[in-house]
Formats: sequence, structure tokens, C-alpha cells
Amino acid sequence: MAGNWKMYKTPAETIAFFEKFRPLVERSEHCEIVICPPFTNLSTAAAAVQGSPIRIGGQNIAWAKEGAFTGEISGAMLRAAGATHAIVGHSERRQYFGETDATVLKRTQAALEAALTPIVCVGERLEEREAGRTAELLKSQFANGIAGLTDAQFSRIIIAYEPVWAIGTGKTATPEIAADAHRTIRAEVAAKFGKDAAAQVRILYGGSVKADNVKTLMAQPEIDGTLVGGASLDAVSFASIVNF
Ligand code: PGA
Repeated sequence: MAGNWKMYKTPAETIAFFEKFRPLVERSEHCEIVICPPFTNLSTAAAAVQGSPIRIGGQNIAWAKEGAFTGEISGAMLRAAGATHAIVGHSERRQYFGETDATVLKRTQAALEAALTPIVCVGERLEEREAGRTAELLKSQFANGIAGLTDAQFSRIIIAYEPVWAIGTGKTATPEIAADAHRTIRAEVAAKFGKDAAAQVRILYGGSVKADNVKTLMAQPEIDGTLVGGASLDAVSFASIVNF
């Protein structure tokens, strides 16, 4: 169960969140819990979760190890700040910051090289869904962004299916729509990386996940977890998602 804080919270707000959140999930051993705060809060968050099962992730990662890349953060820097995970290819990065399937692949590889677990996001936009092109789009994002990994690399990633029309809109995909997309992605995984890899890879659903819809989403065997934006900002609400 992963939380994506996007561009919200200061270090002080981060400390306040974890003071409330930690005791609520201290015994939640049924899943991994990851919070991805803004870069400036990574060290604070990592210190705040020490000794707990909660893990910390970046929201992006540079493809290069170091160099003249203004505004970027390397895998080694994320690790040094206490991160174990990194979101890659979020639709907001694709939409506003020119992220492409090719850069998603490079960032995913950089995360793996830095021993971080990448959470690789895919998902269709509203016009693609309305045009009946969802499966086609998911297949092309997979082919150009994930299929370039080796088998060993693939075994270490998490995939997040996030339909863009469901992000921050309050319009959750129905459990059936989400499961259908997950099946499409899993079939691509099976074709490229084999049946065992398809059975083992965790595919998270993201897009307006809330405490009151998480149960029906998680009831779908295809859905292995959730990537939560807005509802992960509040400790009580994200804890009830984690403990669905
Ligand atoms: P949301 O965001 O839960 O606020 O819809 C999900 C995401 O962008 O990861």
C-alpha cells in the first residue's frame, strides 16, 4: 500500500503525520507500506519511520548517476536520504514534465541499479478510454517502458495501473474496470517475462482510492495493492486504507 504525497507537506507536517500514522499501522503485517513524500522531506520521513515497517520512497529518480541535471535527484541520493522505493513515470510527470516511455525505462533501470524498488506507473487518459484504446495504450506503455528490462530486473519492480481520468477526480475506476486493465498488463508480462513472473508481479491500482472504496478494489484478485494520492495525506484515512 503506497502513498504518493505529490507536492504536499513540509518537514514539520511530515513529523506530525508519522506521529499519528505509526501507531495505527505498527501491527499491519499483511502488506508493505510505503510513503513517497517530496524530496525535501525524505530524511525527515526516514527518521520518523525508523524501527517501524513503514518504508519511504521518492516520487521520481534521475536516469543519470550524477551530472549537470538541474532539478533531478539520483538513486544514490535517494538511498542516502533513506528511501527504498521510487515512483517512476507518474502520469503527472508524463503530462507536465515531458516524461516518455523511453525515459521511464531509463529511470526504472537507474532505480534498480541503486537498489531501489521502482513503482512504475502506466495508465490511459480519458480520450483513450473513450476511444476504446485502453488496452492498446497499456500494451504500448508496457512494450516501450517496461519490456526493455531483463528478467532479473523485472522481478524487482512493482507496477501501478493509474487511469489518468481517475486521478484526483473522485472518479474511481470500478473494481471490474481496474481488474480488466490489470489483466491486460499481466498478460503482457506473461508474454514477455513468462507465467511465473506474471503471477508474482505486484500490480497496484491508483486513482481516487479512499477508505470507503478500498475494500471492493482489493476484493479483486487481480489488484495486489493501491497507490494513493489525496487520501494518503491524512494519517487516519491512509491507515484505514492500509488496514482495509
Ligand atoms: P489520487 O492520486 O489518489 O489523489 O487520485 C493517485 C495518484 O496520483 O497516485
